[in-house]
Amino acid sequence: MEIIALSNQKGGVGKTTSAINIGAGLARMGKTVCLVDLDSQANMTHGLGIYNPDYTINGIMLHKQKISPYLITDNLSLVACDDSISSFEKNIQDKIQREFILKKALQPLIGKYDFLIMDCPPVMSMITINAYSFANDVYVPLEAQKYSIEGLLKVEEMVDVVKEINPSLNIKGIFFTKHNPRRILNRDVELSVRKIYKKLVLNTHIRENVSLEESPHASLDIFRYAPNSIGADDYKKLIEEILDKKY
Ligand SMILES: Nc1ncnc2c1ncn2[C@@H]1O[C@H](COP(=O)(O)OP(=O)(O)OP(=O)(O)O)[C@@H](O)[C@H]1O
Ligand SMILES: [Mg+2]
Repeated sequence: MEIIALSNQKGGVGKTTSAINIGAGLARMGKTVCLVDLDSQANMTHGLGIYNPDYTINGIMLHKQKISPYLITDNLSLVACDDSISSFEKNIQDKIQREFILKKALQPLIGKYDFLIMDCPPVMSMITINAYSFANDVYVPLEAQKYSIEGLLKVEEMVDVVKEINPSLNIKGIFFTKHNPRRILNRDVELSVRKIYKKLVLNTHIRENVSLEESPHASLDIFRYAPNSIGADDYKKLIEEILDKKY
């Protein structure tokens, strides 16, 4: 089973959009996928049409609620989240091995899916550290903007720290989202990122696409909402590249 974290401490770069659509695309290819929402904004949960969930990742981690992922479509399930997760940090302060609470809580899912994909919050909090302590691979969505490299460096720093307790953790790929080929700044930033990170940077760009913006409002992934959109095409290409990397 591949355990993937979509992470960037910069907000609004397409973590949730990518987690949903990479997961949905893999599921359409016949892989079994469990998405895990780790963000108190619950964008992933809401974007897949789940409101006021009975089971949330916070309950599973802290109150030993039974894990019962919501079935979204064939092969695609979701461990939901709500804003109760904002109290996680406070509630675990005196717990030993608190970096591994998520990993322990999700043990029953191990081996049940081909992919487990976690949507991380836009902060380097204890929740993100828990995600990194459990994951093998981190993928970093990036908008080619002025401060993109800073966000990426933060992820790299944290991966290095967490590697001490989870040696199998690696940044597996970096990819550009909300891409607009006409913006010159985009091109300059992309060049410098490619220069530093070389092969880690995937070739596929996720272009700016209004269908990607609309689909969560219809509680659908891009493949069900607009299968012929450039958003669907781009995520399909990205998934092929990700699968080529190893899986
Ligand atoms: N390729 C795209 N084209 C157009 N809009 C996009 C694209 N990708 C994401 N968006 C939109 O940009 C906004 C931010 O995307 P998303 O929620 O996926 O980012 P995020 O990194 O998860 O944000 P946060 O840090 O708040 O969790 C959303 O409104 C989303 O619909
Ligand atoms: Mg998000």
